[in-house]
Amino acid sequence: MKKMARAPIFMVGILVLCCFSGVTRAEYLKYKDPKQPLNTRINDLLSRMSLEEKIGQMTQIERSVASFEVMKKYYIGSVLSGGGSVPAPQASAETWIDMVNDFQNGSLSTRLGIPMIYGIDAVHGHNNVYRATIFPHNVGLGATRDPALVKRIGAATALEVRATGIPYVFAPCIAVCRDPRWGRCYESYSEDPKIVQAMTEIIPGLQGDLPAGSRKGVPYVAGKKNVAACSKHYVGDGGTTNGVNENNTVTDWHGLLGIHMPGYYTSIIKGVSTVMVSYSSWNGVKMHANGNLVTGFLKNKLRFRGFVISDWEGIDRITSPPHANYSYSIQAGISAGIDMVMVPSNFTEFIDGLTFQVKNKIIPMSRIDDAVRRILRVKFTMGLFEDPLADTSLVNQLGSQEHRELAREAVRRSLVLLKNGEGADAPLLPLPKKAPKILVAGSHADNLGYQCGGWTIQWQGLSGNNLTSGTTILSAIKNTVDPKTKVVYEENPDTDTVKSGKFSYAIVVVGEHPYAETFGDSSNLTIADPGTSTIGNVCGAVKCVVVIISGRPVVIQPYVAVMDAIVAAWLPGTEGQGVADVLFGDYGFTGKLPRTWFKTVDQLPLNVGDPHYDPLFPFGFGLTTAPVKRN
Ligand code: BGC
Ligand code: BGC
Repeated sequence: MKKMARAPIFMVGILVLCCFSGVTRAEYLKYKDPKQPLNTRINDLLSRMSLEEKIGQMTQIERSVASFEVMKKYYIGSVLSGGGSVPAPQASAETWIDMVNDFQNGSLSTRLGIPMIYGIDAVHGHNNVYRATIFPHNVGLGATRDPALVKRIGAATALEVRATGIPYVFAPCIAVCRDPRWGRCYESYSEDPKIVQAMTEIIPGLQGDLPAGSRKGVPYVAGKKNVAACSKHYVGDGGTTNGVNENNTVTDWHGLLGIHMPGYYTSIIKGVSTVMVSYSSWNGVKMHANGNLVTGFLKNKLRFRGFVISDWEGIDRITSPPHANYSYSIQAGISAGIDMVMVPSNFTEFIDGLTFQVKNKIIPMSRIDDAVRRILRVKFTMGLFEDPLADTSLVNQLGSQEHRELAREAVRRSLVLLKNGEGADAPLLPLPKKAPKILVAGSHADNLGYQCGGWTIQWQGLSGNNLTSGTTILSAIKNTVDPKTKVVYEENPDTDTVKSGKFSYAIVVVGEHPYAETFGDSSNLTIADPGTSTIGNVCGAVKCVVVIISGRPVVIQPYVAVMDAIVAAWLPGTEGQGVADVLFGDYGFTGKLPRTWFKTVDQLPLNVGDPHYDPLFPFGFGLTTAPVKRN
């Protein structure tokens, strides 16, 4: 009865005023009625759309070229923030919301009022946004071996992203990194496809739990506190020869299916809304032009029903040099099955090019309809038509204390203890909180930017402590030791200073400088200068624990003997307190290597299961300690 009474009021919302030859009348639009079945809404809307409107839906542009007018004029279906692309430096959540809503109002002011979907790389928390919680990068999460924890991180990230008015993230990266020389190796949970598969639990965290009985392959987003996810980069991104970014993955069908594909099976079962195509090639064929794998396998065989998005200028890079033959790129990419193109800047070139090809029957209308149908399916499913505009109700979620506690927990769980003293000195950890005087050293001890790594505030990451709010490892140590313990910090002390300092022990924090795509590719995998001399100077003179901040295993074999204890901390993010929690025994070490730790780079690639496997520390290695009982 109550429902019946409410219905007419509700109906008013879906009656729109239309003007036809001067006559104003209200029209009932089926697609705007959330009571209609999903497919009815999609079909109804699709039947009303012009070619221009359809191609607009398939176009994703960067926020720097977006505006109310552009959204309206070109019927743009989606906007993104590239790495580090923000409405203003240190923008507040409200500033983000205002920007997103402005673009959205442009979309809503079009004839059919189809909402746009805003997407962003939230790959370790909402990492472009000032004061967001920055979680450990995926490699560290792989070390936790805890999918339930990763799911909670997904839910927290979704809330922080929604806090800024954004409903879509380009995460998770489910690459299976098979060679740490790849600069994106830290975006990969593990070299082991089973761990990557398990960590797809982040998808129900981001999108919300799939209702029981959901049909396989159908995208799902629970509501306004969740976001659409994107499994990327399909497929084989982590398998390129010598770990060269965007390069060629050489493996047979069995290798592709067994190593790089399992994460996609699981993602699809879990209702992932979108899949991003990889820049890389498989056996010489660019994935952005691979119809067999994108349409044949992903859409037809695996029955993925969400939309496929290209990578940034991904279709341009089908040719070398990139953009050498854009009309060919459009044809090859759209024909392969890409539904939405991350253009991201020169959108009129894309729109005009695709329009020409459809009008000239180079690309069939059925292909365009498939793409638009998928995009609309995601938008309808997630409730974007009912709730296109963001409000400020979630702004307090951004960088909340609760999320920082969760990140701190993740840091604790991600630490892998590789060595813990020798002989009479073992175990060295946990360290005593009470000591007359201790030394903290190393380039990474007091550098929030370094401990966050790439994809933090800026695309390639930053150095220093002013990029966002968080706790450096040095501050964490100071917070944790006994108030009477004197903490001396010297970034790179010489041996004499250390010797004469009468320190009870030292903590040395060194590692890699931040990097992301391409810039992070490395063939030597060294600790950044002067890290190894800091290790030598300090560890040669006093008992030391070395904490390594890196996106991957690095060369340490020559220094293992001099380092009394070694902790792999990966790229922990803003909550450095988690490192001190474990060093001083408030919690035990539990992390396990998600990757093989090589002896020398000429062993690479080196993965668990390889013949003649001879690592420095094997995949799965990790010493444990018990928490210290204190009262
Ligand atoms: C953008 C990144 C993007 C990259 C692609 C950068 O300028 O900020 O988001 O991934 O270009 O090359
Ligand atoms: C990266 C993607 C990212 C996109 C947008 C690309 O360069 O490969 O992972 O989602 O840029 O920033």
